[in-house]
Amino acid sequence: MNLAILGMGTVGCGVVDVLSENREKITGLIGEEITISHVYVNNVDKERSVDLGGAIITDDINSLLDSDDIDTVVEVMGGMEATRDILTKFLKKGIHVVSANKDMLAKYIDELSLVAEDNGASLLYEASIAGGIPIVNAIEYGLNANRIHKVMGILNGTTNYILSKMTKDGWDYQQALEEATEKGYAEADPTNDVDGFDAQRKIVLLSRLAYERKVDIDEVPVTGIRDVQLKDIKNAKAAGFRLKLVGKSEFDGVGMSIEVAPVLLPADHQLASVEYEKNAVYVMGNAVGETMFYGPGAGGMETASAVVSDLINCMKNQNVACKGPRPDQFAQMKMSDQPCR
Ligand code: NDP
Ligand code: HSE
Repeated sequence: MNLAILGMGTVGCGVVDVLSENREKITGLIGEEITISHVYVNNVDKERSVDLGGAIITDDINSLLDSDDIDTVVEVMGGMEATRDILTKFLKKGIHVVSANKDMLAKYIDELSLVAEDNGASLLYEASIAGGIPIVNAIEYGLNANRIHKVMGILNGTTNYILSKMTKDGWDYQQALEEATEKGYAEADPTNDVDGFDAQRKIVLLSRLAYERKVDIDEVPVTGIRDVQLKDIKNAKAAGFRLKLVGKSEFDGVGMSIEVAPVLLPADHQLASVEYEKNAVYVMGNAVGETMFYGPGAGGMETASAVVSDLINCMKNQNVACKGPRPDQFAQMKMSDQPCR
């Protein structure tokens, strides 16, 4: 099975590491070896921290698009319209795509899912929501007997890392952001993290998945943590609260309320104890009641766990295209004028 990896940064290197460390198990699961045949990057001369074997390393996307030797593509480079165009071309060739790119997916997932479905390809995106937490599979498979009414969570590792460092270790905002960037949690442009846009994209993808409805990202109000001061955190802590950036949505069968904002949680709230780069997602289903999923929200190997899982699942279910109903068969949903509780 020939794999092309688009992007070889924090997550791309994590994917190579997971494939190499767990090669025997993965080969056993899918019944054949995965060979990294092509790597697409910006700078072909850059030193990489991983051994790419005999892969062709290129900055020419057309050489990949023209190749007949690629079975599956992992997209871990980021980007918006140009990336959407590239992935559309691969899907149109019937090539499976695994992507961690929530920025692009939150806007174009309906369109790309239809291209995938119409061409017998899979589009999988477990890593795009809450890093290593297998929340997409949990909702699509584990909770598919439920009507889901509410999803809520700490969905961004960088901001949770910053808020935890400020609360628990007394660091200032800038120092904590720099360390989150150094550790590979922050986006190339951390504005998307600290201003809440990354969490906004994830709550859009989660809500679409949970309620099987289209969710327009432009209708999702967002407030980030840029203006949070150390003194605000100290005051909240002294009063028995924790400040967390929370994404949440509720659906009553007709209308949906949705938002991302910093929230003061009582210190004994389940989400209050989710610290540093960890994420947690709460899902409420009508049959199961309350469920909670916890784990690493960012990081190379942690996110690669989700990417490689998608890769294995798409290889094991060769004939399964997109899961769930086609987006063009989604029922209508209106935005509620009620705030989230
Ligand atoms: P990095 O910035 O570490 O790596 C990006 C890689 O993509 C680099 O190798 C870069 O090439 C390559 N690249 C970027 N733009 C282009 C382009 N236009 N053409 C060719 N190559 C390009 O990013 P991450 O690994 O952190 O993130 C990758 C994706 O995964 C993003 O969509 C991100 O949102 C998502 N993600 C990241 C997580 C994390 O914890 N970091 C977690 C979950 C999702 P070069 O090295 O030559 O510059
Ligand atoms: N920048 C993101 C975060 C990466 O901090 O959560 C994971 O999506």
